[in-house]
Amino acid sequence: MKTYTNVKDLGNIEEAIKEALEVKKNKFGYKHLGENKTLLMVFFNSSLRTRLSTQKAGINLGMNTMVLDINQGAWKLETERGVVMDGDKSEHLLEAIPVMGNYCDIIGVRAFAQFENKEDDYQEKILNQFIQYSGKPVFSMEAATGHPLQAFADLITIEEYKKTDHPKVVMTWAPHPKALPQAVPNSFADFMNEANVDFVITHPEGYELDPKFVRGARIEYDQDKALEGADFVYAKNWAAYQDPNYGKILSKDMSWTVTKEKMALTNNAYFMHCLPVRRNMIVSDDVIESPQSIVIQEAANREISAQTVIKRMLENL
Ligand code: CP
Repeated sequence: MKTYTNVKDLGNIEEAIKEALEVKKNKFGYKHLGENKTLLMVFFNSSLRTRLSTQKAGINLGMNTMVLDINQGAWKLETERGVVMDGDKSEHLLEAIPVMGNYCDIIGVRAFAQFENKEDDYQEKILNQFIQYSGKPVFSMEAATGHPLQAFADLITIEEYKKTDHPKVVMTWAPHPKALPQAVPNSFADFMNEANVDFVITHPEGYELDPKFVRGARIEYDQDKALEGADFVYAKNWAAYQDPNYGKILSKDMSWTVTKEKMALTNNAYFMHCLPVRRNMIVSDDVIESPQSIVIQEAANREISAQTVIKRMLENL
């Protein structure tokens, strides 16, 4: 594996889940792969889970790990070509990336959507420059349009908790005070569309996601109807994707919060969220603290998804 940015990079999804579950059973059984190899993790944005789980995955594989926070301690980077660099940005990404590539064997990149220009965000300008200019395998640690390590962890978690061969998985929009990118819901849809699940997306009108990720998934604008019989409820906020509202908050309708009453409509569903989560906006305290909440187990699987991806990259060096 040379790049990891979407579900297709995993190849056969059943094989990928099987491999991840083997990795989970034997986390330290692949240490030889990372001997004298260095993992560089580059963060343009904050993180708790991705930073720790990915670093832990590299350590499990016997790698040395380095973390660079672009906005804390590194030179401010210019990302556009042709700019007269007379402002506060001291270095251009086009020098910085190959320099970083010299110091490591594999690079993980976190670079969120900036909501300034939809085309720039959806072209994944920063992530793709790392792929093009680093000379090293690159994986997304959440980029502008996708969070494939999260979605792979979500899929592993569903595999572990499902009670039927073809569970109903409902991804529901929920309110949030800030405008959030579409990366997590895009990747979740991307993965669920490849998985053996009955996948339904529910959101208020105006929150339609990019059809490239939604593909054939069922859209239901009535949240209560969507939740009926669900085996898994995956809550997430995202800002509008469609023009002319790209990046805007169109609703903070608290009737979309996942509450006990909403969960009562389901088939005793498990509650999932990628975290961090705003309690009593996205989900009520009693739901996230209930035995049906598997958010902590889901976060734990971030180590497994990262380790499986990095393992494949190491095997291919
Ligand atoms: N879910 C997730 O990516 O968490 P962090 O933003 O804390 O890394």
